[in-house]
Amino acid sequence: MCISRKNIIYKPHDCVPLPPPDFNSFYHKGNRKYINPSSVIPVDDDEFDRIQQQHIIYYNVWKNHFSAPVNELLKTEGTKVLDVGCGPAMWILEMASLYPKSRFTGVDIVPTYPIHTKPLNVEFLQANIIKNGLPYEDNTFDYVFCRLVNFSYTIKDWKVVINEICRVCKIGGYVEFMEKDVKFDIKNEYTKKVFSRFIKNLQKRNIEPIISLKIEQYIKETNNFPVINHEKRDVPTGEWGDNENDTFKIGKSNNGIIKWGAENIKNIMIEDGDYDEKEWNPIVNNFMKELDEKHIYDNIHRIFAKKETEIKEVCECRECRPPQSLRQLEHLSSTGLFFKFKYQRFKKFIKNIA
Ligand SMILES: C[S@@+](CC[C@H](N)C(=O)[O-])C[C@H]1O[C@@H](n2cnc3c(N)ncnc32)[C@H](O)[C@@H]1O
Repeated sequence: MCISRKNIIYKPHDCVPLPPPDFNSFYHKGNRKYINPSSVIPVDDDEFDRIQQQHIIYYNVWKNHFSAPVNELLKTEGTKVLDVGCGPAMWILEMASLYPKSRFTGVDIVPTYPIHTKPLNVEFLQANIIKNGLPYEDNTFDYVFCRLVNFSYTIKDWKVVINEICRVCKIGGYVEFMEKDVKFDIKNEYTKKVFSRFIKNLQKRNIEPIISLKIEQYIKETNNFPVINHEKRDVPTGEWGDNENDTFKIGKSNNGIIKWGAENIKNIMIEDGDYDEKEWNPIVNNFMKELDEKHIYDNIHRIFAKKETEIKEVCECRECRPPQSLRQLEHLSSTGLFFKFKYQRFKKFIKNIA
């Protein structure tokens, strides 16, 4: 499914002046900024300071910025990269200096990205992927990245997001997602009960707490990505997970991030009536205590896949199907069937086994 785009179609880094950011697009509630009245998480400096820290933690967990095999591609002049829901754009900014020959585009519904000071190989565009789709032609980008956006999308939105990302990815290019499970292996009945109120709140908003398997499914359903790769890491949630010699303390930092995240969703949870203001702090403290005492891990996932050419056009008939092995080729040659293969198919087969 490709949603209709009533707006302009852009070409990345095409020298056309991009529309100026609209700072009135934020929704203000109390002293915080959100995307709209139903948002769970703010999109303001405080939340983005938290995300910045999260970016550093995850870099230290994975020891790299991505999992797709695009390192060589990114060193090639003119490779086009898109980050969907780029936020304050730490990923893009670091990638842009690591890969100066690639051209990076960050898209976000609100202008949270740097407006004036940015590397020459970076551009940003304000766009709402759910309402209007991505404002690019099919098969535009070599690599499309999307990270930590789950609280922004309902399960129905995710289908649109993935279809759009897969659509603008070039044939032979890669898509990559990174998300975190909203799930902790807690055992204490009290913490379980209060945490389930949070899960119910997300479900009421049609937000899926464990999105990684859905991401896989939706990529598969586009029929253009035959192989989906899924990598998972367990991240400690406390100092117990750190070694003395570690220069960066992942567990300690992750503990801080979780507590900070709880603070940033507090207003909405209280406003929704799922928690009482007075009980919030004791609940969070109890929760953090259990993570610490029981050595509970966070789960993060990267899902990546390559867009293939043939999927839709492969003819499965005996004459068109390419031989799968040299033995099969020999057999076909001996029966004369080999000569019935289309010239193009044979050429491709030889290329594959060469
Ligand atoms: C939690 S931030 C993640 C930022 C960034 N991907 C990172 O990993 O640091 C989620 C971002 O998704 C953006 N977003 C939410 N809904 C969107 C939409 N419909 N279209 C484009 N961006 C959207 C938000 O504005 C926010 O900047």
